[in-house]
Amino acid sequence: MVKPTSQWWKSVVPLKEVFKCGVNYKLQDVSRKSSRISEYLSENGWRLRKILRGATAMHTELRMRIRDLKNLVSNINVESRPDEICIDANLATSFLGGFKPLDLDDLRTQLHQAVDFITDYYKHVDSHPVLAQVEPGYLRRILPPTPPGPAAAFDSVLHELRRGVLPGMTHWASPSFFAYFPATNSAASLAGDLVASALNPVAFTWLASPAATELEALVLDWLAHLLRLPQRFHHGGAGRGGGVLLATTSEAMLCTLVAARDAALRRAGGGAGVAALPRLVAYGSDQTHSTFVKACRIAGFDPALVRCVATRPESEFALEPARLREAMEADAAAGLVPAYVCVTVGTTSSTAVDPVGPIAEVASLFGAWVHVDAAYAGSACICPEFRATWTAWSGRTR
Ligand SMILES: Cc1ncc(COP(=O)(O)O)c(C=O)c1O
Repeated sequence: MVKPTSQWWKSVVPLKEVFKCGVNYKLQDVSRKSSRISEYLSENGWRLRKILRGATAMHTELRMRIRDLKNLVSNINVESRPDEICIDANLATSFLGGFKPLDLDDLRTQLHQAVDFITDYYKHVDSHPVLAQVEPGYLRRILPPTPPGPAAAFDSVLHELRRGVLPGMTHWASPSFFAYFPATNSAASLAGDLVASALNPVAFTWLASPAATELEALVLDWLAHLLRLPQRFHHGGAGRGGGVLLATTSEAMLCTLVAARDAALRRAGGGAGVAALPRLVAYGSDQTHSTFVKACRIAGFDPALVRCVATRPESEFALEPARLREAMEADAAAGLVPAYVCVTVGTTSSTAVDPVGPIAEVASLFGAWVHVDAAYAGSACICPEFRATWTAWSGRTR
């Protein structure tokens, strides 16, 4: 077993020599073929795994250099024949300045490769079985157990993508996909993602990235405009409105739940504060997405006080304001505090649209906050023919 002492660091110098003689390519070549992998040496996180064998046998100069190297690193007890040595080509390359994550030539080549991959994928998406034909755990049998090193060739990564990842995809973009709901994409959004990831803005404050910060607020105002939301939903409008971009609906649900929870705790006043938490009640329907119950738990609501009001086929599985009111009245009479109502515009399982306006009326009787989960069908409300769902509600909000 090797002790990677300071001697090991010295080995970087001769390794550099080895690489200079053009063996770099061969190392990668052999490591790509993974002719033999062994965990010879491991300590302090340094793992030297690839055994370079065939190449050394063929390449006299390399063999000599590797011998030199082995002599230099005298305390490394490599159990190997003279033409064999353990090195990790990727790791070594990164030490030697071969790791250039943003080399502009590589950037251009790899982006072209990625764009070709994407356009080919969409061109032939209907040739893939919509449902992945794989068994659970299949991917670990295909991909290596350790990550590719920094010098892994991009085309070998693309190869792994084709070989390992594509067969395990459910192809939502396929024209034969009719499950769940449509997952839309567009050329503009793909290109936009690419540019955004290249610009890589860090937007935690205005100063950190003024354009990103302002663009976020502006784009959310565009959305409010498209949905014909009142001015108070805009940044800089009369109220305290204005949106932020979040990564998922679940995140949005949790944020609104926490805000509603804290507002209810403030209302509870009288020093009750957090002590009132066990009395707060949240309401959804039995069609509400499971993320609702999950978010309630994270926000500290008592699971026994998370109500999933029963829906009926007669009302097309929508949350009925009368039933909600009954539940809220019963809770209030029992000394509980109705704090949050989640309505859904397009439930995942049945596309039910809860009557947002009338439910907001009921919630306001109890001072409860209303969250509209519009993950599924909210964007449809941009269309004039569906706008009524929205405007009926937005006229009633404070
Ligand atoms: C109506 C509805 N709410 C919430 C979610 C959860 O969305 P996310 O995965 O973005 O948290 C979904 C996802 O399908 C949904 O359809």
